[in-house]
Amino acid sequence: MKIIIDGKEIVAEVGTSVLRAAIDSGVFIPHLCDHPDLEAVGGCRLCSVEVEGIEEVVPSCKTIVQEGMVVKVNSPKADKIRKMAMELILASHPAECTGCPKYGKCELQSMYQYMGVGPERWRMKSRTIANDDSNPLIQHLFTRCVRCGRCIRACRDLRGVKVLDFQRTKDGLRVGTDNGVSLKEAGCKFCGACIEVCPTGSIMDAIGIIKEDVSYRDSVVPCTSACPASIDIPRYIRYIKDGDFAKAIAVVREKVPFPKVLGSVCSHVCEDDCKRNELGNPISICKLKRAAAVHDHGAWKKNVKRSNPTGKKVAVIGGGPAGLTAAYYLVKKGHVVTVIEENEKVGGQCRYGIPAYRLPDELLDNEIADILEEGVQLITGAKADTPKALLEKGYDAVLVSCGTHQGTMLPLKGNDLEGVYVNTDFLKNARLSAPLAIGENVMVLGGGNVAYDCARTALRLGAKKVYIACLENTDQMTATKDEIEEGQEEGVILHSAHSFLRIVGDTKVEGVELQKVDKFYFDENRRPVIELSEGTKEIILVDNVIFAVGQKPAGTDTMGLELINNAYVKTNDNMETSMEGVFAAGDVVTGTKSVIIAIEAGRKSAEEIDKYLGGNGDISEQLVYKESPNSYIGPCPGFGDLERSKPKLLNSNIRKSSFEVVEKTFEVDTAKCEASRCLQCDLRLNITKPKLWNEY
Ligand code: FES
Repeated sequence: MKIIIDGKEIVAEVGTSVLRAAIDSGVFIPHLCDHPDLEAVGGCRLCSVEVEGIEEVVPSCKTIVQEGMVVKVNSPKADKIRKMAMELILASHPAECTGCPKYGKCELQSMYQYMGVGPERWRMKSRTIANDDSNPLIQHLFTRCVRCGRCIRACRDLRGVKVLDFQRTKDGLRVGTDNGVSLKEAGCKFCGACIEVCPTGSIMDAIGIIKEDVSYRDSVVPCTSACPASIDIPRYIRYIKDGDFAKAIAVVREKVPFPKVLGSVCSHVCEDDCKRNELGNPISICKLKRAAAVHDHGAWKKNVKRSNPTGKKVAVIGGGPAGLTAAYYLVKKGHVVTVIEENEKVGGQCRYGIPAYRLPDELLDNEIADILEEGVQLITGAKADTPKALLEKGYDAVLVSCGTHQGTMLPLKGNDLEGVYVNTDFLKNARLSAPLAIGENVMVLGGGNVAYDCARTALRLGAKKVYIACLENTDQMTATKDEIEEGQEEGVILHSAHSFLRIVGDTKVEGVELQKVDKFYFDENRRPVIELSEGTKEIILVDNVIFAVGQKPAGTDTMGLELINNAYVKTNDNMETSMEGVFAAGDVVTGTKSVIIAIEAGRKSAEEIDKYLGGNGDISEQLVYKESPNSYIGPCPGFGDLERSKPKLLNSNIRKSSFEVVEKTFEVDTAKCEASRCLQCDLRLNITKPKLWNEY
C-alpha cells in the first residue's frame, strides 16, 4: 500500500508501523524504545508524528499504516512533543557522555544529537543509584537506564526467559528481578539479549567480557574464537541439546575430519574461554563432541564439496593429523595426493604417541577410512625421498608434515645408563605391543600430559611404583587437571616442584636424585630460574627413567630445507619453505602442539597448496543446512547452577591392568543435558543491530 510522509509517497507493507515503513524507505523518524525485533510499546514518544485526520500526535511505532495515510514528521506540533520527550529522558540521565563505555555507539546520544537537544538544557544533577556488578557476565548501570523496557521485552518475548521487569524500589521505577534476587536466583540464562537491545550503556557485558583486541563476534562467542579450527561450537551443541547428533557431527566436520579423535584427546582450549566459567564451570565441549561422534553414520557425506580433477600431484611426507587433514582437503580440490609414511600405519602421534587407553586404534582407523575413501593414496613403511627428489619425480607440490617423533633427553649425569628411555620410544613400543623392558619402579621426568601418558602406560605394563617428578608446582604443570587426577587414582606418585640432579647407577639405572624447588620461573629473557631448597636432596630408587621433557623432528636435516634450531622447518606466512613448491605444516614447523592445532595447520596448508597449484584455495564447505536457531529459549529455574556432567571412568584398579579405554562416552540423555547448559551466546548475534541516525 501507499502512504505519504512529508509529501513523499512511499510503499509500505500491510500491517507494518509508520515508523518501520518510513525507515525502510529512507525517511528518518527519531525513536528509542522501538526495536526492530521487539513489539512496539510507544513509551518514549520520540517517534511522535502527525497523521492527517487525527487530532493528537501519535507514536509512529504504534501506528499501523493505512492506504493513503498522510503523515507529517516535520510539523511544529510533533517536533514539540518529540523535544519535550527527549528533555524528559535527558533530565535524569548523566550529563557527561564521554566517560560512558557506549560513547559513540549510544542510540540516545545519536538521537539527541539528531534532534539538536543539547546538554545545556539538561538538569546537571543526575540520579545517584549504585551500579549492580554483583552478577556474573552482566553489569547494570542504573543511572543510564532510560526505562525504554527493551531489555524486559527481549527477555520476555524474544527469549521467553521472563526474569526482568520494571520494579518499584525506593529509588523509583527500575529494571530488575522480582524481589531483587540475583539474576542467577531468578533463573536468568545469561544469553545476553538484554545487553544486545539496550540502547544506552545501562545493561552491559561485565568488564573484561568484550575484548578490545578481537572482533565483537569473537568476544560474544569466545569458544569458537578460541578453537584453533574455528568450529561453530554453539551450533553443534544446540543440535546435541535437541538430540540431533547427525547434524551436530556434520557441523564439526565442516572444519575437521577427526571428530572422534578430538572428542577423545583434544586439548579443548575452547573450554577455558567458555562464558559458563563465570557461573562455575564450562560446558564439557570436548566430551560432547565425542558423544556426537559416536553417532556419526556419515549423513554429512552427501554434502561434501568435490572439485573436478586438476591433473596436479601432491606428495605429503608424514601421515599425522596435519598431513592427513591436508591430504583430505587437497584430494577434494581435485588433486592426486599421496601420503608417504615411514611407519607401518598412518596416524602420527595419535597412533604412536598417545596411549590406546585414551585413543584406541579402531577409532583412529575409522576416521582415517573416511579420508582414504575420498581417494587419498598411501605409501606406508617407506622413508620418503627428499622434497627435491619428489618434485623431480613429477609431484607438483610437496608438503612436509613429519611431526616431532624424536624424544629429547636432558643433559643429566647418568642419562646414558641402561634403563633410561625417552617418551617417544617408550610410548611407540607400547603401542606396537613390543614394550621396552621395565622394572618394578619407574620414574618419569616431566610435568605435561606426555609424562602422564608414560607413567600410566608404565603402570599398565606392570610397574608397581611409578613416580613423576617435575620442576613446576602442581598449579604450574601443563598436564591437565583430569590427567593429574586420573593418574593419582591409578597410583602415580607425583613429586612436583622437584629438580632432578642426576640419575644414579653404575651401568644400570638404580635411582634418581631429586631436590625440592623453592622457586621456578622464567626471567625476562625466557631463561628458566630455579631456586633449590637447602637440605632436601633425596634419592628415589627406581629401575627405569623415562624422559618426557619434549620432542623434536627427526630427519629434517637431510631434506635440503632451511631449518630453525637445527630441526624445525622454516616457513613463511603462506607455509612455504625455502624450496619452491615445498610447504610444511604441523609440529615439524611449530614444535609439539595439540592435535587440533595440527589439524588447522593441515587445513591452512591445503588452502595454500591449492592456490599454488592454480586453485582458489577455498576448502570451506557446508555439510548441513544452516538453519535459523530457535531464539525462544524459554525459562529454566536453577539454570545458572546446573552442574557440569562428568563422564564415567573405568574403575582405577581395572584400568591400570589393561589398555582398555578409561573414559566412557556420555549417554544420549547425559549429552543432551550437558548441552542444555550452554548459554547459546551466538543467539545474540542474530538480534538486529539498530542503526544510529547517521548510518541511515
Ligand atoms: Fe515510538 Fe518510543 S520509539 S514511542
